[in-house]
Amino acid sequence: MRLLQLPLKDNPYSIHIGSGLLNDSSLLKSYCDGDNVLFVTNETIAPIYLDRVKNSVAGKNIHQVIIADGEVYKSRESFFKIIDYLVEHGFRRNDTLIALGGGVIGDLSGFAAASYQRGMNLVQIPTSLLSQVDSSVGGKTAINHQQGKNLVGAFYQPSAVIIDVDTLDTLPDREYFSGFGEIIKYALLGEASIKRLLSSQIDKLFERDRKTLIELIYLSCQMKSEIVAKDEKEKGERALLNLGHTFAHALETLTEYKHYLHGEAVAIGIMMALSLSKIKNLIDSQKVEEYQQLLEKLKLPVNIQRKLSVDAFLAVMTKDKKNQSKALRLVLVKQDRCILKEEPNTQLVADVIQEFTA
Ligand SMILES: NC(=O)c1ccc[n+]([C@@H]2O[C@H](COP(=O)([O-])OP(=O)(O)OC[C@H]3O[C@@H](n4cnc5c(N)ncnc54)[C@H](O)[C@@H]3O)[C@@H](O)[C@H]2O)c1
Ligand SMILES: [Zn+2]
Repeated sequence: MRLLQLPLKDNPYSIHIGSGLLNDSSLLKSYCDGDNVLFVTNETIAPIYLDRVKNSVAGKNIHQVIIADGEVYKSRESFFKIIDYLVEHGFRRNDTLIALGGGVIGDLSGFAAASYQRGMNLVQIPTSLLSQVDSSVGGKTAINHQQGKNLVGAFYQPSAVIIDVDTLDTLPDREYFSGFGEIIKYALLGEASIKRLLSSQIDKLFERDRKTLIELIYLSCQMKSEIVAKDEKEKGERALLNLGHTFAHALETLTEYKHYLHGEAVAIGIMMALSLSKIKNLIDSQKVEEYQQLLEKLKLPVNIQRKLSVDAFLAVMTKDKKNQSKALRLVLVKQDRCILKEEPNTQLVADVIQEFTA
């Protein structure tokens, strides 16, 4: 097992990464304060994993709320389903909510835990690759609003994150590879060992080899933790984690979240950010080709391959909530690191969109 510490000033916490952790009868229990434990999971994950984790907290009063599967259930209805349950069963602030699932369950339950009595004990058990390398770490929680994704939320840190790579065995192929969109983002943000591992161990990653996955997830969480520790509330450097995301969010919005998984949209967004970086002479074409090949090897899309209006795309990008000013704020790649830049020249961005949609 690998152990990582997220060194936050007010609330440092551990991230455990390993195999067989869901069967460990002391690990999860050691993070459960109070007498009551509420598992929040979904209809797909419950039949596969819920009994196993329930056994590992035997002796506590065990409760469960099961949400339907899908991004549309990251909603106010699901949020109040959890809150109402907590109220009706007299949960206290030191009781524990355990989020067992992918990013949807993590974001939704995290926000419920943040809100109930101004914050109850929370443990994240992410089960998708994307949630294991990204959403479970760093404390961003949210639900969606009809006006936009993640519009209502809070920064709320768990007391631990427990990542059991065995859960990836049951993850559908497309969901599995989608997680690599976020992992490649870390490689570009400057983590050379991730790039080396992705390039040299591709066969092992296709086999879902546990040892290789533990190493890759460890390096990814380490990269994210370092950035989050320096800038927990995204006032500066944490925004670098949005590499490819302003493009990706616009693409997801315009295609109504129907055509691309988040990691797939991020893969395309990363290619668009690389392309813009090359136009601005921040990197050479070799770098663009290198990452294109890597994304393709990991079964990720590198092009939009459908007709979309460039104007509509740009309009959504400028409305992105991560844009603080009118000018577009984008993460670009410069040699072996990334930089945050205001891009006043929207024509350049329009050219990139044109190149990818044509
Ligand atoms: N908080 C953050 O920092 C952050 C970062 C990135 C993404 N997100 C959010 O995360 C969400 C996407 O997360 P996701 O990609 O995990 O999607 P998801 O939670 O919808 O999971 C993807 C699918 O895989 C299934 N699944 C998950 N684990 C499984 C397993 N072990 N076996 C079988 N099936 C399994 C789920 O039931 C679902 O059908 C989005 O809502 C996004 O906004 C949040
Ligand atoms: Zn993302």
